[in-house]
Amino acid sequence: MIKGNFPIEKFKNIETPFYYYDVELLNKTLELINRCSKENNIDVHYAVKANANKKVLSIISKAGLGADCVSGNEVLAAINAGFPASKIVFAGVGKTDKEINIALDNDIFCFNAESVPELEVINELAKAKGKIANVEIRVNPNIDAHTHKKITTGLNENKFGFNMDELQSVCQLISNSTNLNLLGLHFHIGSQITDLNAYECLCVRINELQDQFDSWGVKIKNINVGGGLGINYEHPNHIPIADFESYFRILTKYLKLRDGQKLHCEPGRSVVAQCGSLITKVTYVKQGVNKQFAIVDAGMTDLIRPALYDAYHRIENISSDLEEETYDVVGPICESSDVFDKDVELNKTKRGDYLAIRSAGAYGEIMASNYNLRKLPQGYLSTEL
Ligand code: LLP
Repeated sequence: MIKGNFPIEKFKNIETPFYYYDVELLNKTLELINRCSKENNIDVHYAVKANANKKVLSIISKAGLGADCVSGNEVLAAINAGFPASKIVFAGVGKTDKEINIALDNDIFCFNAESVPELEVINELAKAKGKIANVEIRVNPNIDAHTHKKITTGLNENKFGFNMDELQSVCQLISNSTNLNLLGLHFHIGSQITDLNAYECLCVRINELQDQFDSWGVKIKNINVGGGLGINYEHPNHIPIADFESYFRILTKYLKLRDGQKLHCEPGRSVVAQCGSLITKVTYVKQGVNKQFAIVDAGMTDLIRPALYDAYHRIENISSDLEEETYDVVGPICESSDVFDKDVELNKTKRGDYLAIRSAGAYGEIMASNYNLRKLPQGYLSTEL
């Protein structure tokens, strides 16, 4: 079995389970993003929600990316990690007054606004501070991203953004608001998108909308296509970096940008997923009826994606090179959904072996919980061990 490279000797002094981040891979990914985005003249805002570990954030901010935030605390975390406020965008359907004020006080780049009452509140709060708030209108483009139903966001039935038939009145509202400046349009059609045709459809939809805006005489400076680029969960060792080249090429090929318009995007998963693994130790190997369980010390509290979305994560026994056997890899939580995967081929496994649950750098550590009064897993960089 082909496995990732892990400094297992160095793991001996660290309490399991923990997240291990391969800095070399993260930097290679960021280099590719920077090269392709420069070639295609795209501003990239890293979606902080995917992983807000301070050390990871600081590497990404040093690489020069902007940040896409969905809460006041994410805005503050991004600023603390060194992201310039002028590169921070702030989305979310339920921004509270407190969060809007945090964003206004820090002079972030723009609000990605999702409803009329939200625009009214941003205008009011900006007026109270004597500031002009830049806003992008988040449009729900009604495009099927062909991904998991719980992470599809761009369909009419979803709660996100404005529907296309209300856009003209929203433009009117913004131009009548004393303290709002319409900066652009924002889209996001879903996550873990591997069929890049979905982006082609999005571009076609944006072109149609741009024609409408032209006919209304409304100037749009930025087009933000959101995030969503998928990664390869099956083969993290063979395909460790997402296909940013094709993604950016499709965007620039199909989008008809107007003079002076700037393209923005907000990748999260594709930046950080492959560099992270959840490292866990086998507590017991238990014989069941016609199967054996590897009971590990990580649970759904540390990585909830398999339980919540039936998501697949490759699992490797990084302590053993013995013949492969079949195991259900399960956690210790008192829930029957606390299963990482069933019928997994692992090198023969014994108590004390280390398993690496791969491609867990995105929506892993950040979605961990204290359920069962468990400790939150810590994250370590390869460079600090
Ligand atoms: N921009 C907006 C407005 C978003 O809602 C999201 C993700 C992103 C950007 C970043 O998308 P990404 O490039 O990471 O796909 N917890 C789920 C994923 C939820 C994604 C939510 N929105 C999971 O573990 O698969």
